[in-house]
Amino acid sequence: MSSIAEILSTYDDHAPLERASTIPGPWYVDPRMAELERQTVFSKTWQLIGRVDQLQQPGQFLRATVAGEPIVAVRGTDGQLRAFYNVCRHHAAAVVTEPCGVAQILHCPYHGWNYGLDGALKGMPEFDGVENFDRKDHGLVPVRVDTWENFVFINLDPNAAPLRDFLGALVRRMEPLGVSKLHYFDRRVYNIACNWKVFVDNYLDGGYHVPHLHKGLNSVLDYKKYTIENEDRYCLQSSPMVESDEDAATGATRKGDRAWYFWQYPNFMINCYAGYMDTNLVIPVDTDHCTVIFEFFFDDISDARRAYNTESIVVGDRVQGEDLGICEDVQRGLKSRAYGAGRLSVRREAGEQLFHRLLAGDLKGGLDKTAAAAD
Ligand code: FES
Ligand SMILES: [Fe+2]
Repeated sequence: MSSIAEILSTYDDHAPLERASTIPGPWYVDPRMAELERQTVFSKTWQLIGRVDQLQQPGQFLRATVAGEPIVAVRGTDGQLRAFYNVCRHHAAAVVTEPCGVAQILHCPYHGWNYGLDGALKGMPEFDGVENFDRKDHGLVPVRVDTWENFVFINLDPNAAPLRDFLGALVRRMEPLGVSKLHYFDRRVYNIACNWKVFVDNYLDGGYHVPHLHKGLNSVLDYKKYTIENEDRYCLQSSPMVESDEDAATGATRKGDRAWYFWQYPNFMINCYAGYMDTNLVIPVDTDHCTVIFEFFFDDISDARRAYNTESIVVGDRVQGEDLGICEDVQRGLKSRAYGAGRLSVRREAGEQLFHRLLAGDLKGGLDKTAAAAD
């Protein structure tokens, strides 16, 4: 069996697009790669955990898992947003067990220890007589948290650059779209039998698969004028839109001058049409599985628009269904002895190359540090 360093060396992240290949099959199927990604990508990058509208009032909290770590974010009585490892300092139970809600105190269900919304340990039943124990030293362990637009992110790495530096030019690029004015409506969760990178690759192929796989969606896009723009850690794929009655539901719910598809490294996508946004968060489960959370936002979520918004989600769900089968097929193909790595379309697949280069940079750099620590 090849070593992890050998597998990493099989991808050339310096090759120009004309000569580049994709990351090879083993990157998608070797459990050691998944563990290296957990340590050097998901434990080091800003990860979406929820929406600002879920954490607006004092006491509102939400739970999440990032790189396998249980996390809770909570708005304090002082208005401050904080995040912590959701791990009790007594015997490691999850302090918060609801996915989201409102609380005045964070109460561990195991032995009843109480923490304030600021994470400070407030009280422990039957703990008199314990020596060398200072309550101050046993608060919930904090995690970095920050917000951008309606999105809440955390970062497990205390030394990571601030969220805005991480997002880079994406902040300025998305600003004119005014997505903070849209309202959350509903979500769909997809469990897919493919590596998380297969889903991201499929998203980043510059519309290459759209005319073949998504006939309905293709009818409203001006496919020939599709553009791909790489910068920092994001790729923007965009297309002028055309009026079409070929597919009535798609035509009615995907409108505007342009379609905007943003991907932010490593696993977050934002898709916008006029008065519409959906976000996709891709969460690795194991080498062969990922979970993708879609959240849908609209400019008007009044009762009068309920039927329209619901139809719009049905359209999204149909496109999603078309992608799922292909992603699961690709996962099987990546394991085949017939496959090594693939070439990239210069016209279409620059975004995919950006993804693979950023990933390779993090994994190779991360492995070097692990190796240096082991020396
Ligand atoms: S584990 Fe939380 S109180 Fe014991
Ligand atoms: Fe697709």
